[in-house]
Amino acid sequence: HDLSSANTLGLPCRAEYFAAPTALEPLRRLLGLAGTREWPLTVLGGGSNLILPARLPGLVLQPALHHWWLEQKDDSVQVHVGAGVEWHALVMALAGRGLWGIENLALIPGSCGAAPIQNIGAYGVELCDVLEAVDVMFVEDGRCARLTAEECAFGYRDSIFKGELEGRVVVTGLILKVSRRPTPRLAYGDLAQRVGRRPEPLEVAEAVCAIRREKLPDPAVLGNAGSFFKNPVVERHQAAALRSSWPDMPHFELSDGRVKLAAGWLIDRCGLKGWRVGHFAVHERQALVLVHFGGGSAEELLAFASQVAAEVEAHFGVVLEREPRLA
Ligand code: EPU
Repeated sequence: HDLSSANTLGLPCRAEYFAAPTALEPLRRLLGLAGTREWPLTVLGGGSNLILPARLPGLVLQPALHHWWLEQKDDSVQVHVGAGVEWHALVMALAGRGLWGIENLALIPGSCGAAPIQNIGAYGVELCDVLEAVDVMFVEDGRCARLTAEECAFGYRDSIFKGELEGRVVVTGLILKVSRRPTPRLAYGDLAQRVGRRPEPLEVAEAVCAIRREKLPDPAVLGNAGSFFKNPVVERHQAAALRSSWPDMPHFELSDGRVKLAAGWLIDRCGLKGWRVGHFAVHERQALVLVHFGGGSAEELLAFASQVAAEVEAHFGVVLEREPRLA
């Protein structure tokens, strides 16, 4: 099965077996089959945060659970959504209904099932701010469980699904909490300047889409996986030393006293915007994004990314960590 168009980086990949189960029972049977045959298992969402090898042995599963419904609670609305629903479609559907909560997360590519894995975040909001629970199926025995947000151990671009539960569960659905009560979060960048004084959630979502379209390449046009590196977190003294040399360096103090830096700025300041090697380049408008012009491989991409990270380390002494996962 050809997965070249199922990953936003557009890397060539062939999977040995592929299935997109539309209900829990077929998903359970497929997990059982993979277990019996001892097939390696890869779970694919929208393929927007993933680096695929040329060949994937075993079974690739793409949960195609497309249901979603709303449940009115006293002062909020609960959203139950299947893993296969496209995240951006959900954002627009909720914002269009006047519901506040995930409007800042508009235009993030990928499926709802993938959203909790890296705790997607943008413009001052992270999934964990609105997430109540994650429904999963265990690979080992097909049993279903509901994890509370606390049990998911969310952090910046991190969760239990990248740690203890990696490879052990398939996310089948999410429960989110949204609200009709206006809660605009406009403090990030120039978001506040782009909307009216009392915006509706749809207006905020559309402003976020406009900002993203200005800076981020559309994966349908140019292969990419969004931010290729995480924003690095450094100790306070290291940030202070860097700021004495680069007073305009963006920095964000965390509650634990450490400081988060902007990887895009660091790469940009190394003069790497637009730098191209072979089939890959640093995006010319947002240095945190690596783009693929087609014809390249995962190995070339990883080698190119290492060169970018090595430049940043040589200039600033800051180590960058990769963001998309290797399948
Ligand atoms: N900057 C530069 N040059 C660049 C890129 C950024 O100088 O080439 C500077 C900007 O001017 C700004 C700062 O760096 O002062 C931060 O830039 P930006 O607001 O664009 O956000 P980011 O930190 O680069 C993060 C997320 C994005 C998310 C945006 C908005 C990570 C790894 N990335 O990027 O997420 O959309 O904030 O919230 O945390 C993704 O994860 O795939 C992603 C796109």
